[in-house]
Amino acid sequence: MIMMNFGQLLCTSVLLFSMLHLTSSFASTVDDLVRQWAPLVWLSPGEKFMPYDVDSFLNNVYVADENGKRIFPKLDRNVSQYRTKGWHLNTYRPIGELLNDTNSYLYGSNPTENSVPIYALVSECNSSGRTENDVQDNAENVYFHVAYWIFYPYNLGKEVCVIGNIPTVKLFNTCIGSTKTLGNHIGDWEHMSSSFFKKNSTVPNSLYVAVHDAGAYYTYNEENRTFQFQEVKKQNQLVQTPKFPKIVRTQGDHPVLFSANGSHGLWSTAGENEYNKLPKLTDRTGYGTPWKTWNNIQIYHLGKEPLPYWMNFRGTWGNPKKNCLLIKKLGLCEYFDGPEGIIRQNQDYYC
Ligand SMILES: *[C@@H]1O[C@H](CO)[C@@H](O)[C@H](O)[C@H]1NC(C)=O
Ligand SMILES: *[C@@H]1O[C@H](CO)[C@@H](O)[C@H](O)[C@H]1NC(C)=O
Ligand SMILES: *[C@@H]1O[C@H](CO)[C@@H](O)[C@H](O)[C@H]1NC(C)=O
Ligand SMILES: *[C@@H]1O[C@H](CO)[C@@H](O)[C@H](O)[C@H]1NC(C)=O
Ligand SMILES: *[C@@H]1O[C@H](CO)[C@@H](O)[C@H](O)[C@H]1NC(C)=O
Ligand SMILES: *[C@@H]1O[C@H](CO)[C@@H](O)[C@H](O)[C@H]1NC(C)=O
Repeated sequence: MIMMNFGQLLCTSVLLFSMLHLTSSFASTVDDLVRQWAPLVWLSPGEKFMPYDVDSFLNNVYVADENGKRIFPKLDRNVSQYRTKGWHLNTYRPIGELLNDTNSYLYGSNPTENSVPIYALVSECNSSGRTENDVQDNAENVYFHVAYWIFYPYNLGKEVCVIGNIPTVKLFNTCIGSTKTLGNHIGDWEHMSSSFFKKNSTVPNSLYVAVHDAGAYYTYNEENRTFQFQEVKKQNQLVQTPKFPKIVRTQGDHPVLFSANGSHGLWSTAGENEYNKLPKLTDRTGYGTPWKTWNNIQIYHLGKEPLPYWMNFRGTWGNPKKNCLLIKKLGLCEYFDGPEGIIRQNQDYYC
């Protein structure tokens, strides 16, 4: 047992109390900012594949290994501990059957009718610019970044023109072969991030909007309350080359984004957005259903609290790829693999 005199004890409790106090006021400042700057997401007119909550989705899938063999009937706390790459979540019912049933969970849930959560991952940073004084009035100094994640059970692929088994370009805008929808997949994670790195600031200094495998950074302009295009994120792999809109508007501090019809990439403009030149692939966005994501945000502070068990799953969130053209390796398949989970190596911001 550690012996302490009364003075030491008192000192320790005062210190402990003030630390707790600082930590909690810092956390609430952060959480308020996370809600205040959460996106307004316009789902597309005619969108069939709505967002959904992860827990309900997980009731409908089992855990399978590389060969599709069922390993566990459900992803749960214990299974998540295995952290096994190469495993995936597989739907109990065949995809064709789920698609035929418009009441199935594959179609998600309209967030204006039933509340659907989004998941915010907060990384609090220890800024090198932070001084002793800053730490003392902690609540006024926030340095953190946050990624807002949206889950959809299904991603609708794109129509591509093929002759036999070979993808071809359209001639004079007509496909002389046949059209095939490629790139459908179970499980679809989409996100936007923002960073708050200015001293005593209640506005983000930067925003990142992800479109498929690419994304762009925007910087906030306080005068006209819009985010201005800054640069495309540099990545190692060859990815698509979207034409990013020049600005992201805000509405009452909420960045206004549009979720692409069926495939859910996030854009800041309504209309037809090109994300690949050859073949030309576009995303349609528009003023369909306005989703106020801040009404239901599950906020998690990385490294500070236990995360939901499903965040530890290292496998992919959907059935494996199938019905591929040419060879499987090229990835030109009717069904793609599901995406990886939301705790990722490649982040949009680093502390
Ligand atoms: C969105 O896609 C659905 C098919 O999934 C279609 O019926 C609808 O017209 C599309 N909406 C727009 C704006 O293109
Ligand atoms: C998880 O493992 C613990 C201990 O090994 C066990 O008691 C518990 O029943 C398991 N939970 C599930 C859902 O399998
Ligand atoms: C889906 O519905 C179509 C048309 O009713 C039917 O031909 C097809 O067999 C169904 N597919 C499955 C997997 O149930
Ligand atoms: C922040 O940095 C200081 C000084 O480098 C260090 O003592 C402290 O433990 C760090 N805090 C966190 C939460 O990482
Ligand atoms: C921080 O901002 C608040 C409110 O905007 C202001 O009252 C306060 O004086 C600022 N503190 C510093 C150290 O700039
Ligand atoms: C907002 O202000 C910035 C910087 O002055 C300017 O470059 C940008 O064009 C403005 N945007 C709008 C939408 O007015």
